[in-house]
Amino acid sequence: MEIKKVVVSLCMGSACHQFGVYGVLPVLRELLAQSGYVDRVEFKGAFCLGPCTEGIVLQVGSVQITGINPQTISRKFTQKILPAIIKQSEAANEPS
Ligand code: FES
Repeated sequence: MEIKKVVVSLCMGSACHQFGVYGVLPVLRELLAQSGYVDRVEFKGAFCLGPCTEGIVLQVGSVQITGINPQTISRKFTQKILPAIIKQSEAANEPS
């Protein structure tokens, strides 16, 4: 059975650029690679996702995670991003 992937979109819009998205991107790629879930994720760049004032924005499926910056990315990954990926991946791949 083919695994359904969870779409993870990192905002590359101008506000998120100002907050340091290009510093976050390689760290996020590395964290994803180490997580064991990289095969379950379709990772994309996105245009403005909406809440520009709340720090860099990442969307996991339909869940937005804000307040990301180069200092918080590791903590946000452990506390919010990876749990959202696991939850949505399990939901998308439940046997019917
Ligand atoms: S530029 Fe990233 S949310 Fe608007």
